[in-house]
Amino acid sequence: MGTAVAGSTFQNLLYEKKGAIAHVTLNRPKVLNALNQAVFAELKAAFEDVRDDAAVRGVILTGSGDKAFAAGADIAEMSTSTGVQAEESTRHAQSVTELIENLGKPVIAAVNGFALGGGCELAMACTIRIAAETAKFGQPEVKLGIMPGAGGTQRLPRLIGKGRALQLILSGEIISAQEAYRIGLVNEVVPNANLISRSEAILNQINSNGPLGVKYSIDAVNKGLDGSVSEGLLIEASLFGICAGSEDKKEGTLAFLAKRAPNFQGR
Ligand code: CAA
Repeated sequence: MGTAVAGSTFQNLLYEKKGAIAHVTLNRPKVLNALNQAVFAELKAAFEDVRDDAAVRGVILTGSGDKAFAAGADIAEMSTSTGVQAEESTRHAQSVTELIENLGKPVIAAVNGFALGGGCELAMACTIRIAAETAKFGQPEVKLGIMPGAGGTQRLPRLIGKGRALQLILSGEIISAQEAYRIGLVNEVVPNANLISRSEAILNQINSNGPLGVKYSIDAVNKGLDGSVSEGLLIEASLFGICAGSEDKKEGTLAFLAKRAPNFQGR
């Protein structure tokens, strides 16, 4: 029996809310948390629940066991799918990555081991990536005769630049957490034992800030990276205007001037 949300029972995830932080854990450790269609369906339900729960301000996504965050798409499932089925399932997986990327709340990928193929792509859809020292990253799809299908060809070059992204995607090379840090794929590398506590500390710091400012900053960065700089600046100005008309802005500026801590309401 798995954990449940809104009437659905999770067989492949652990899902738990601790105060303002939701913890989503990929839970197929026997196959290194490989991502099959059931996992993506459950991720969709969990992240929609987070999105709709005002009490939740951020998410930590990790993998169960000490070996893997996720070792990619489920190769057994993939081996029997037709091209048409694969196109449909990859579109669904992509929609889940878009839900996570545009959740309006920060999502930290706490990468506890292998993040390969779809696992690396899932981590890249998150707002921030924190890696355990033993984590490993890569896009080894070409070794299976395929290519990245859950956003890797788009998000990897945006994160680390075109040349490095193409080298990783074309070689299928698996890199260490330190190398991932050096090229900007992860934000921090921490000792394995500190992975969750450091992720919680980052979310707590973000959560002390105005929720609207956080939400619209994520929006402005994501939407801006989709288009030209001038389109991005227009989006930034519009969202800035919404923030600047909010109660939170009034409270934040008054609190600063009164030398007291702000009490943000997300309005
Ligand atoms: N799908 C299904 N099963 C997987 C899996 C995957 N992606 N990765 C690992 N497993 C299974 C193994 O088959 C094995 O099962 P059995 O115990 O039943 O044999 C179990 O998990 C443990 O794995 P290994 O014995 O292989 O563990 P290892 O420590 O020797 O190697 C590894 C670890 C290097 C990560 C290796 O498992 C591996 O190369 N896995 C595949 C990685 C990969 O190619 N990922 C990309 C998938 S394609 C993709 O993701 C497409 C996309 O863009 C959406």
